[in-house]
Amino acid sequence: MSESTQQALAQAESEGKYIRKVRSFVKREGRLTKGQAASLEKCWPSMGLEHKNGLLDFTQVFGNDNPVVLEIGFGMGKSLVEMAKKDPNSNFIGIEVHRPGVGACLMDADAQEVTNLRVFEHDAVEVLADCIADGSLAKVQLFFPDPWHKKRHHKRRIVQPEFVESLRSKLKIGGVFHMATDWENYAEHMLEVMQASENYANQSPSNDYMPRPDSRPLTKFEQRGHRLGHGVWDLMFERVK
Ligand SMILES: C[S@@+](CC[C@H](N)C(=O)[O-])C[C@H]1O[C@@H](n2cnc3c(N)ncnc32)[C@H](O)[C@@H]1O
Repeated sequence: MSESTQQALAQAESEGKYIRKVRSFVKREGRLTKGQAASLEKCWPSMGLEHKNGLLDFTQVFGNDNPVVLEIGFGMGKSLVEMAKKDPNSNFIGIEVHRPGVGACLMDADAQEVTNLRVFEHDAVEVLADCIADGSLAKVQLFFPDPWHKKRHHKRRIVQPEFVESLRSKLKIGGVFHMATDWENYAEHMLEVMQASENYANQSPSNDYMPRPDSRPLTKFEQRGHRLGHGVWDLMFERVK
C-alpha cells in the first residue's frame, strides 16, 4: 500500500469511517483433514511464520544467506514443496490464506523432509507490506491466481498496478516476478498491468508470454488442460530499477 493510500485510510479511520478493503480472496472455512491438523500442530513451530511478528530477518529464519523465493497463493503447496525439494540452495516462503492448504503443504514438506521452506497463513498483500524487507527477494511466484472471471469482480484480481509496484520494491534488482495463468483474459490483464508498470523488463523476447520454464513444475490440473487443448500463459518480469 502506498504511503498516500495509507494516510488516506488512517485519516478515514480516525474520522470513524469504515473502509472495506477489496481482497483477492474470500475466506472459505474448509475443514481440515486429520492429517492436515496433525501436520499443522507438528510443523507450525518450526515452519510457520506469523504476520504479527513483523519484518523478517531471512538469515535468522533459515540459518543461511541463500536466495529467497516467495510464492503467493500456493493452494495445497504441491508445486512449492517440489520446487523447494529440488533446489536445496534456495530458501522458499509460501503464503496462503486457506488453512487446509497450509496444512496440506506442511504435511507434504514433512513427508519429503524439506527444510528450506517456511509458510504464512495470511493475506499476501499484508505480508509483503509488513514482513518482507525491501530489495530482499530473488523471485516471486504467482501461479494460477484466482481469475475472478466476472467483469464486476476484476477489481479483486491480485495483479493490480499498486500490487506489482509494492512487489517490485521487495525484489532485488535483477529479481524476477513469475506469473502463470490458464485464463486468457487474466493473462492479457497481467501483461497490460506489467507493461504499464515502470522499472520492470519483460523477459519474453516477443515482449509478451514465455514458454513454461523448467523451474515451474507441471501440475496434474495443467496436464489435463493441455490434453483438452487449454492454454497456459507464463509471464516473467525482471526488476531493473
Ligand atoms: C486458484 S488457487 C491456485 C493455487 C495454486 N497456486 C495452484 O496453482 O494450484 C489461488 C490460491 O490463492 C490463494 N489466495 C488468493 N488471494 C490470496 C492472498 N491475498 N494471499 C494469500 N493467498 C491468496 C487462494 O486461497 C487460493 O488457494
